[in-house]
Amino acid sequence: MYPKIKIVNITKNFSEAYTSSFYDEISQKIKDLDISVLINNVGMTTGDIPKDIEDLDEQTVKDTIAVNCHSLVGMMHILVPKMIQRKEKSAVFTISSVAHAVSISFFGVYGCTKIFTNYLSIGLGSRMFGGAQIEFLDVCPGLVRTNMTAKVTAPLPSENPDNVPPSTF
Ligand SMILES: NC(=O)c1ccc[n+]([C@@H]2O[C@H](COP(=O)([O-])OP(=O)(O)OC[C@H]3O[C@@H](n4cnc5c(N)ncnc54)[C@H](OP(=O)(O)O)[C@@H]3O)[C@@H](O)[C@H]2O)c1
Repeated sequence: MYPKIKIVNITKNFSEAYTSSFYDEISQKIKDLDISVLINNVGMTTGDIPKDIEDLDEQTVKDTIAVNCHSLVGMMHILVPKMIQRKEKSAVFTISSVAHAVSISFFGVYGCTKIFTNYLSIGLGSRMFGGAQIEFLDVCPGLVRTNMTAKVTAPLPSENPDNVPPSTF
C-alpha cells in the first residue's frame, strides 16, 4: 500500500532506558532509514492508586523516571542528528500531561516526569538547527481512558482515546 515505507519492529523494555547500551540495537536497526517523525509515547505511572512519597516502591520510581524521561533523551539523541541532516521537515512529539502544570496530590513523581517532558520539548523547540526544519511538539492530555489509567477510579472528567489524536492534530 505504501511502497516507500519500511516498518521495523524493535521490542524493548524502556525501564532500562537509562543505560547507553540500551540504544545500540535501536541505532543499528534504524541507521539506514529516513525518519521524519519521532513520537515519544512510552509512559507509565507510579501505580494505579495515589500514594504518599514514603510509600512508593523504589524500583517503581526508578522505572518511571527511566521510561518517562531517559527514553526521551535517548531517542532524541539517536534521531535528532539524523533529522538535522534532512532537507525536508521533521517533527518530534513528546507526550506530557496536564499533570505537568497542575500538582496532582500523591502523583508527584509522575507529574515531575511530565514537567521534564514539557521543558525538554519547549527548550529544544526554541533552538535553531542550522537550516534544518525540526518542530518539537508537546501534547498535554488530561485523563484519557487507556490501559495506563484503566484502574483509576477517581470520578474525573476523561476522554476517549480515539478522540485525542484528531483533536491534537
Ligand atoms: N491516559 C492518560 O490519562 C494520559 C494523560 C496524559 C498523558 N498520558 C501519556 O500518554 C502516553 C501514552 O499512555 P497511554 O495513556 O496511551 O497508556 P498506554 O495505552 O498504556 O500506553 C503506554 C505505552 O507505553 C508502553 N510502555 C510502558 N512501559 C513500558 C516499558 N517499560 N517498556 C516498553 N514500553 C512500555 C506501553 O506498552 P505495552 O502496551 O506493551 O504495555 C504502551 O504502549 C504516556 O506517556 C502517558 O504518560 C496519558
